[in-house]
Amino acid sequence: MTETELVDIGSDAFRAIMGSLASGISVITTREDTGRPVGMTSSSLCSVSKQPPLLLFCVRPPSSTLDAIRVGGNFAVNLLDVEGRELSELFASRNDDKFAKVSWRPSERAGMPLLEHTLAYAECAVHNLVEAGDHVIVLGRIVGGGAMADRFPLGYWRGRYVRVFRFANHRGEELNGQSVTSNGRAPRQE
Ligand SMILES: Cc1cc2nc3c(=O)[nH]c(=O)nc-3n(C[C@H](O)[C@H](O)[C@H](O)COP(=O)(O)O)c2cc1C
Repeated sequence: MTETELVDIGSDAFRAIMGSLASGISVITTREDTGRPVGMTSSSLCSVSKQPPLLLFCVRPPSSTLDAIRVGGNFAVNLLDVEGRELSELFASRNDDKFAKVSWRPSERAGMPLLEHTLAYAECAVHNLVEAGDHVIVLGRIVGGGAMADRFPLGYWRGRYVRVFRFANHRGEELNGQSVTSNGRAPRQE
């Protein structure tokens, strides 16, 4: 495509198109060099590669979370469950101390903040940071984590939170998977 064909569709059209992509909601957490936990809500989480295990999310600077990730090189992805709406709102705010009233525990490897109301989490080491338009793509290598089988996700679609319902299988049964963690232990239930 030549440069003259690169028309600007405008932000309303961009929002209408990309907002139609249903997503889950994650809270990306990390710690500043002082140890202070910081985090942000993200709907841009995406699976990238199985071997090596990579994921990505996109962040628009300025972001205190991105600043801390650049310095520390580690972060955690907390995939929110259907009870996690208030956490999503809190971590999307400009509140200076988002962790003041939030209970969390440090992750096994790098001590990244793990929240309640999650259905899975991933501990990540920065693989690469890529400038892309007005965002930075953060690629992370997953070094630990786990998933809880009996939780349902918080969804986001066209600017609103949504619930996700699973279709039954062909026999009309709901399927229950097994909970797994990268260290072989059962995931901690909040
Ligand atoms: C549902 C939802 C999804 C969001 N997804 C993103 C995202 O993918 N990338 C981003 O940069 N900001 C996203 N935001 C906005 C950030 O969460 C918000 O700017 C936050 O305050 C950034 O925190 P920080 O500056 O402390 O890092 C989202 C907000 C909401 C409510």
